[in-house]
Amino acid sequence: MGRVDFIRPPYVNTTRVPGDRYRLLGVSGNGPLNDRYIALEGGDGSGKTTLSSALAARLRADGNEVVEVREPGGTPLGERVRELLLDSDHVDPWAEVFLFAAQRAQLVREVVAPALERGAWVISDRTYYSSIAYQGRARGMGEEKVREINETGLEGVEPGRVFVLDVDPGMGLGRQHRPDRIGSESVEFQEAVMGAYRDLAVAEPGRVLLLDGGEPVEALVDQVMEALGR
Ligand code: TMP
Repeated sequence: MGRVDFIRPPYVNTTRVPGDRYRLLGVSGNGPLNDRYIALEGGDGSGKTTLSSALAARLRADGNEVVEVREPGGTPLGERVRELLLDSDHVDPWAEVFLFAAQRAQLVREVVAPALERGAWVISDRTYYSSIAYQGRARGMGEEKVREINETGLEGVEPGRVFVLDVDPGMGLGRQHRPDRIGSESVEFQEAVMGAYRDLAVAEPGRVLLLDGGEPVEALVDQVMEALGR
């Protein structure tokens, strides 16, 4: 099968079967390239960002190229969507679902897939598992529906492994520097988010792994590296 040109945006090819582009490249939910696509998840104030930097440093010390991204954000368009999502006074719950999915589609095609294709690792501070937990479960929009909407836009460019920092929601809320619109939700909301992550870890043991967010960051990096077989 011939190689697909990455430069041409996928929407130029109107006859394309959704998903084919990335399946051809081996970037699909369980394809080999996705093994280098790692997502860090958790409630607000769970320490993902600190873990992301420490994990990136460890992988770089082993001679790897590492691209760190965050969601929402990670592209010029995505950073603007981030502001809309987190700083607006009111966002309709369905608008929230679609805006998160929109910035994610932009990120995977503009940054993630090209990085994986050239052999880099990608560490993503949040991914669509946040949408399943926050919008699907805590907002009550439906976990399967939210998963489906996101998977449509991702076309198989999904993290091979998802590490969830499990922290007590009350403690996490206290750790935030400046809570945003969603980070200011109640402890009950945060508990629902954490409950969803725990259920996802049970439902998808091959992909989603819970980590004890109370552990020192270097111990967490060791656990991630071990789970990655490195
Ligand atoms: P952050 O604080 O980790 O940067 O994330 C910003 C907020 O957005 C946080 O409260 C979690 C929330 N969020 C969702 O509700 N759904 C999503 O899909 C993502 C990526 C984040």
